[in-house]
Amino acid sequence: MSQITDKLGRPLRDLRISVTDRCNFRCTYCMPRELFGPDHVFLPRSALLSYEELVRLAHAFVKLGVKKIRITGGEPLLRRDLPVLISKLTQEVGIEDISLTTNGVLLPRLAGQLKDAGLKRINVSLDSLDTDRFAAMNGQSSSPQKVIDGIDAAQSAGLSVKVNMVAKLGMNDCDILPMTEYFRERKITLRFIEFMDVGETNQWKLGEVVPAKQILDTIASRFSFKPVDPSYRGEVATRYRFDDTDCEFGIITSITNPFCGDCNRARISAEGDFYTCLFASSGISLKEKIRSGVSDDELLQFLSRIWLGRHDRYSEDRHKGVPAERKKKVEMSYIGG
Ligand code: GTP
Ligand code: 5AD
Ligand code: SF4
Ligand code: SF4
Repeated sequence: MSQITDKLGRPLRDLRISVTDRCNFRCTYCMPRELFGPDHVFLPRSALLSYEELVRLAHAFVKLGVKKIRITGGEPLLRRDLPVLISKLTQEVGIEDISLTTNGVLLPRLAGQLKDAGLKRINVSLDSLDTDRFAAMNGQSSSPQKVIDGIDAAQSAGLSVKVNMVAKLGMNDCDILPMTEYFRERKITLRFIEFMDVGETNQWKLGEVVPAKQILDTIASRFSFKPVDPSYRGEVATRYRFDDTDCEFGIITSITNPFCGDCNRARISAEGDFYTCLFASSGISLKEKIRSGVSDDELLQFLSRIWLGRHDRYSEDRHKGVPAERKKKVEMSYIGG
């Protein structure tokens, strides 16, 4: 079975697996400290899918068309023995494009093991090079140097690195140029992410989004660049290349120019629920399914029925003003972005 498409004709290509709901940061736009404080109850280990269960699911998703897997969290490097999962996915499942999204602080310890396990590339989140604004955005008092050390460690280990910066108006929009200059100099692709209305806890306001146009104008005040064609259908970031150096940057325009039309992404939450959209309010339990003793064939049928029935296009509907259902959306820290 392959090449299944959903109700809007979109194939299934990309699988994002969240391996933990825990994080050592408390970013205001994801896990605000007021709501994810010392009393917050995280999932117990038994509620997470085991690596064996994730490998079984990955095998099934590959049969349905998945070519690319991204490991997310929370902070995925907090999950014990993560390199073991990476090597199972590369060697047993045969996934070639496997990547990871991380806040970077544990990379000095883990980058070498991840590379040895078969990881090729990572995306590291960093919202400012300024210590105070970094701390204000990321809700903890560590310094941006720790993330830079992580990036250095990843590069030394031979991993290809991109950097994600969530931009919030009046908070870190003043960091757009310094971040551009720094990563351009290092020839690392920096992607700016419009602050998204994901989950229910991040107090999202349209007025705090830095629109892509403002980001482009800011960068154009210093550098010249041209758009780059997408490297594949459904690419999340709109890419640009500087005219005078072999370096790119990108913008993820979920708010001002949504990209649902080509969305080929499935997500498995930390708890093992299958989500067909980042903004969905509920998922379908795969944990229950695989712990109930289904055969491989039944599992395949189950997953393919979900994809065949998919019609999500949350960001496009929001953009067009289609009223959303008043249901609680899943938090980013469960579903990994
Ligand atoms: P590559 O392009 O393969 O490097 O990965 P990526 O950009 O898809 O992954 P990453 O985890 O770095 O995500 C960057 C940002 O894009 C995050 O804020 C994600 O939440 C956002 N993003 C990824 N996929 C989607 C999507 O399907 N819809 C929306 N609205 N945002 C997405
Ligand atoms: N809006 C935009 N990006 C977000 N991220 C987390 N929460 C949000 C949000 N509300 C980013 C993280 C990370 C990626 C997975 O998603 O910074 O880089
Ligand atoms: Fe942690 Fe990433 Fe969420 Fe920040 S955005 S709190 S680093 S999971
Ligand atoms: Fe895909 Fe949903 Fe994001 Fe649209 S909003 S691109 S359908 S995950």
